[in-house]
Amino acid sequence: MASDIDLHAAYLDPILDRYGYAATNLLQILREAQEHHSYIHPDAIDHLIAKLQIPRARIEGVASFYSFLHLQPHGEYRVLFSDNITDRMLGSVELMQKMCQQLWVEPGKMSEDGLVSIGTTSCTGMCDQGPAMLVNGRAITHLTHQRVQEIGQLIRNRTALADWPAEFFRVEDNIRRKGLLLGNTLASGDALCAALVLGAQNIIEAIKTSGLRGRGGAGFPTGLKWEACRNAPDSIRHVICNADEGEPGTFKDRVLLTSYADLVFDGMTLCALAVGAQHGYLYLRGEYQYLLEPLQAVLQSRRNANLLGNNILGHAGFNFDIAIHLGAGAYICGEESALIESLEGKRGVPRNRPPFPVTHGYLQQPTALDNVETFCQAALAIQMGAEKYRAIGTAKSTGSKLISVSGDCPRPGIYEYPFGVTVREILQDCGAVNTCAVQVSGPSGICVAKSEFHRKLGFEDLPTAGAFMVFDDSRDMFEVARNFVHFFAHESCGFCTPCRVGTSMLKQTMDKIAEGHGTKYDLSEVEHLDQVLQTTSHCGLGRTACNPVLHTLKHFRPAYENRLKSLDFEPAFDLDGALARARQMTGRDDAGAHIETEES
Ligand SMILES: Cc1cc2nc3c(=O)[nH]c(=O)nc-3n(C[C@H](O)[C@H](O)[C@H](O)COP(=O)(O)O)c2cc1C
Ligand code: SF4
Repeated sequence: MASDIDLHAAYLDPILDRYGYAATNLLQILREAQEHHSYIHPDAIDHLIAKLQIPRARIEGVASFYSFLHLQPHGEYRVLFSDNITDRMLGSVELMQKMCQQLWVEPGKMSEDGLVSIGTTSCTGMCDQGPAMLVNGRAITHLTHQRVQEIGQLIRNRTALADWPAEFFRVEDNIRRKGLLLGNTLASGDALCAALVLGAQNIIEAIKTSGLRGRGGAGFPTGLKWEACRNAPDSIRHVICNADEGEPGTFKDRVLLTSYADLVFDGMTLCALAVGAQHGYLYLRGEYQYLLEPLQAVLQSRRNANLLGNNILGHAGFNFDIAIHLGAGAYICGEESALIESLEGKRGVPRNRPPFPVTHGYLQQPTALDNVETFCQAALAIQMGAEKYRAIGTAKSTGSKLISVSGDCPRPGIYEYPFGVTVREILQDCGAVNTCAVQVSGPSGICVAKSEFHRKLGFEDLPTAGAFMVFDDSRDMFEVARNFVHFFAHESCGFCTPCRVGTSMLKQTMDKIAEGHGTKYDLSEVEHLDQVLQTTSHCGLGRTACNPVLHTLKHFRPAYENRLKSLDFEPAFDLDGALARARQMTGRDDAGAHIETEES
């Protein structure tokens, strides 16, 4: 009879074979290993230790870092409701409660029979068609009470996911406004052919002339990045496409990868030509797992057309191919150095910078890492000509930008504009009325109030990675900020103490205010915390974590003040509240034993 270890070897060995027994593929191996159980079995870990020759601490450390990997049994059906504020606005909290009741399971726990676990996850990137959920990693959109009930029944009946109605899994593009990029009529390989005519050095010059800046948020000049990578002294170079798209409210990369994948790969391949790279990687967020197969098919058709592989399009020595790696539910892996760590099969903890990825990236070798949209824009700029591209947009923000519109508007979806478009124009186009605020560029971005709707999207005024969440005047902006603060506390990677502790303190402060125990002192403490986080955080997550509170405080102070006690200070531990239950149980309520407040 086969031993337990043999049982695990039977499914693990083919996975290990496919990944060449390389520890750099640990995350991919663990992801696939988990598909055979609801979690990574301890015997499977023993087998991996033996075969990969890496310590247990490394394997368990990686498995415990990513929220989609589990070291303990989870339900046969793992249900995760997207917990972005836009999903909440569409009723996700009530839907989750309903499903928990239907299946007799507590949120965050597994049912006693091991059938199902139900919980929440950070934004799944489906804000234009929410509320959304993931079931065993597969995205389901447009949740309604009826759909949730049907899903509950399918789970009860143990119906295989493959037999669930296909429309549950339909993800629409919702392209509402096309421009330069979305309206392009390029065939697969057109931009690459144009790049081959230019040659490596001229591609970099053209990208510099075009004024192209990264679309992942920071806006670094793309031409300078590629030039630094090309000039780095090493013979092996890499190109990485950042498709982690974890910023809540952003889903434009999802649409590019769904309907413009060839343009993304054209951009990556011409970047490889420019910097002299041989290896390409697309780091795809785990939530977009459903895109893996179609993207693999696009890559294969490009190999068949010699747009990838050796001597690409007959150019001797131009060898380049692209592999896809899946993430596993960690927002921090969108930060470029954390992404590279993750790609190397480690925990996604940001590295010290400098050195930067252009000289010390993947495997410490020179790496050009860009956002999905940046590669598309680069391909476009090469095809249409740098000067022509430069004429679009504004002086410091050339070209166009894809905006992911969600929230209180009748037409959520993808809108493309030349940089310089005002907030008001976008609101008009998506049909928003009675808007009180727009959150530009996600929780780490900027909250723009009505008086500022004349402001323009672009690096000169409102830089953005693309999220545009609309809130009408029925919304409570305190609750919006509270949701964002919970997101940061959940997603802090824990590497540096100020961010780990600070984001958790911020969350507790907002919860304290929500429960009616907040005071003016708590608000002043947030400003203090912001200074600490700004100056001591290792990466952008910690540095921007207080933004949602500070921005909403600036524009919507009454939403906070209405909840505050008139006290100047109340301790975080509510002694009187804690004693209330004991008083109730004993029936003894001595007035003298109550803590005196200003109000009493
Ligand atoms: C916490 C954090 C999360 C990030 N998430 C993403 C992301 O999901 N996608 C992305 O392209 N860039 C993200 N970035 C920015 C990347 O670090 C990097 O600047 C970008 O991918 C570079 O590409 P670009 O020059 O084309 O913009 C993130 C940065 C931080 C600090
Ligand atoms: S700032 Fe936060 S997310 Fe960034 S490295 Fe430190 S702990 Fe991790």
